[in-house]
Amino acid sequence: MKKLIEFTLNGRKVRVEVEPNELLLNVLREKLCLTGTKYACGIGECGACTVLVDGEAVLSCLTLAIEVDGKNVVTIEGLAKDGKLDVIQEAFLDEGAVQCGYCIPGFILTAKALLKENPSPTEDEIREYIKGNLCRCTGYVNIVRAIKRASELIKEGEK
Ligand code: FES
Ligand code: FES
Repeated sequence: MKKLIEFTLNGRKVRVEVEPNELLLNVLREKLCLTGTKYACGIGECGACTVLVDGEAVLSCLTLAIEVDGKNVVTIEGLAKDGKLDVIQEAFLDEGAVQCGYCIPGFILTAKALLKENPSPTEDEIREYIKGNLCRCTGYVNIVRAIKRASELIKEGEK
């Protein structure tokens, strides 16, 4: 039987009817038309479907939509504010960390969770945190550099 859930999505309240077994990934992409959250492996092994739930990075392909009832969900579409990209998005562009781009929303949201938890991560800490995110194009070097740069830009912005 369908259930009506309500949650905050990128700063706005949304209400949507979902099946008890419906995945958050499918609700975001198909019912709410937010296709920035990517479907890739579908089994929790690539990180492409990462979103933030109450500030934590979660895999939306392994999360039931009913689990986010009453919670705060952020997708890649929710990061830019007033037409200005988030600092992590800027850093990915500055460091040339994007090739085909398919994995990038997942990396950026994972980086967002990392920098909230640990504002000054070392390169090793970054690599450890993003180990669940796979990229078939970049070789990771520029992605790690971009996350480091974002942490520096955030610190500079706080001065
Ligand atoms: S699509 Fe969710 S981890 Fe790969
Ligand atoms: S940029 Fe293509 S998979 Fe990462």
